[in-house]
Amino acid sequence: ATTIAVTPERAQPQREQPATLDQCRRCELWRNATQAVPGVGPKQARIMLVGEQPGDQEDLQGLPFVGPAGEVLDRALAEACVGRDQVYVTNAVKHFKWELRGKRRLHKTPAQREVAACHVWLEEELARVRPDVVVALGATALKSVIQDGGATMASVMDAPFEHEGRWVVAVYHPSFVLRARDEESRRQAYDVIVAGLRQALTLAP
Ligand code: URA
Repeated sequence: ATTIAVTPERAQPQREQPATLDQCRRCELWRNATQAVPGVGPKQARIMLVGEQPGDQEDLQGLPFVGPAGEVLDRALAEACVGRDQVYVTNAVKHFKWELRGKRRLHKTPAQREVAACHVWLEEELARVRPDVVVALGATALKSVIQDGGATMASVMDAPFEHEGRWVVAVYHPSFVLRARDEESRRQAYDVIVAGLRQALTLAP
């Protein structure tokens, strides 16, 4: 009988999952980022918040939501009576994508292929933390969480829905509040985030 030797090297898939997030080369974003920013929070948090990608401050500090969007998120969490230390906070994409504008590194929305390449890390976090509720902060997060590149916020924002055995609540991204054109729109966007966080709490008491 013929035996075919399968060497460990040959048995490996081409784009093998790197052992650690910091070593990830599944897309090119690592090249211009200071570091990968992993999620942070209790090991078994009942609620997981998923943002888009680290911003300038997050890239430098290695922590999610510690810049201006993080301030909005912190205010909304406090108003919803959800402790930041109660929730696991992460992003759909773990490296900062930016372009230089003058002296500032301005956020650039990640491409769908970058979101898809990074999905393994979100999957790993979901499998490890096993939250009851995932709060998708904005469209990029929503697309990654439900694995649907065509998903829109408008279609899901009014009510929580079940996906793969857990609740998903979709709300605006905190940066959307900062970018809103007037006080009224800022207030409305912010209220949607607070209401979504309150909803998450009722789904994962
Ligand atoms: N915006 C995000 O989506 N995530 C962060 O961590 C910071 C800003």
